[in-house]
Amino acid sequence: MTKNILILPGDGIGPEVMGEVRRVLDWFKAKRGLAMEIGEDAVGGAAYEKYGAPLAPATLEKAKAADAVLLGAVGGPKWTKVAYDKRPEAGLLALRKELGLFANLRPALVFDALIDASTLKPEIVRGLDIMIVRELTGGVYFGEPRGIFDEGNGQRRGVNTQVYTTSEIVRIARIAFELARTRRNKVCSCEKANVMESGLLWREDVTKLHATEFADVELSHMYADNCAMQLLRAPSQFDVIVTDNLFGDILSDEAAMLTGSLGMLPSASLGYVDDEDRPVPLPLAPAFAGAGSGVRGGLAEAPPAKTKGLLEQAQVFASSPQAGRRQLRAMYEPIHGSAPDIAGQDKANPLAGILSAAMMFRYSFGWDKEAGMIEAAIRAVLNSGIRTADIPSPGLKPVGTRAMGEAVVAALEML
Ligand code: IPM
Ligand code: MG
Repeated sequence: MTKNILILPGDGIGPEVMGEVRRVLDWFKAKRGLAMEIGEDAVGGAAYEKYGAPLAPATLEKAKAADAVLLGAVGGPKWTKVAYDKRPEAGLLALRKELGLFANLRPALVFDALIDASTLKPEIVRGLDIMIVRELTGGVYFGEPRGIFDEGNGQRRGVNTQVYTTSEIVRIARIAFELARTRRNKVCSCEKANVMESGLLWREDVTKLHATEFADVELSHMYADNCAMQLLRAPSQFDVIVTDNLFGDILSDEAAMLTGSLGMLPSASLGYVDDEDRPVPLPLAPAFAGAGSGVRGGLAEAPPAKTKGLLEQAQVFASSPQAGRRQLRAMYEPIHGSAPDIAGQDKANPLAGILSAAMMFRYSFGWDKEAGMIEAAIRAVLNSGIRTADIPSPGLKPVGTRAMGEAVVAALEML
């Protein structure tokens, strides 16, 4: 069946990165006969310019109707002065909320060829493969009340509310535990239970779920500030980290940068069409074939001994008691932002965007083989010494965005 994909390039480097993603998708259409219908629309600042709002109602409808959304990036200095509810970021947040994308999977893994790109010592980051599972539709990002209120005495009050319910906590924790079972079987849950009641509830609910359904998984709890520190001190102690929306935002940037290559990391935001706030199952494959898989040879360093192979992981997913037949809603996006400083200069790294398309193939469409082809092509490109400016290597002259996209397609031809 034809897959209906909506590309939302957004702002900054988003359009040029998505241009290369499209080049790869077009190759699969032409050369492998994959049936994809690809539409495009504006989001963020680009949508503000075009429609007067960062997410037009018609765009949201298209996103809801699509089998998957691919998003570039939103935001930029041009829109810092627009009304708060019209800022580019509001478009992205509305998409997440309206599509019910409560589970954000952000892998941080170190690519063999790029080990020297990290600011940390090679022995600290070699083989790093962490999955951050960030709650994406709750917490302080969406809690009420919120706003800036006039106190009437010359003072104003800025208010945001951190709030989580048991069902929100349990459904995201369940994803983390399921995912851990396909990896190294460890979950670290992060909050600030020492300061916040919402964190205390988080800890209690995760503990209960663990005891009743996931006692086989190793669970630890960590305060989020300590986690930030541990990520720098000894990152390989982590397998899956599950955390709330705000801490997940911060910790995932930190974890991603450990790899030295923000321009390399994809992400998936997942939910269900008919999600009625109950615990939901999700397909639980590795983020992409390199993620600790010894089966096809990964993009990353050699897998830790306990990591299951890809085929086994697929099996685990298929036989999971959580597995259901509900229709997936999904949006895939590179972790890097809009990088306005280099936008339009053919300098951006398109690989995170292209890997996001591989994640889409695997999670949303079940096109495992083709996802593996994308990953293999990228591995080949990196091994052959082709680099964009963000992942420099001594003696190698960086190529531009387009040349990198062309190199990936050339590598696909060679597979
Ligand atoms: C992210 C980004 C967004 C967030 C912004 C752009 C709204 O930082 O996806 O991590 O805060 O969630
Ligand atoms: Mg962020």
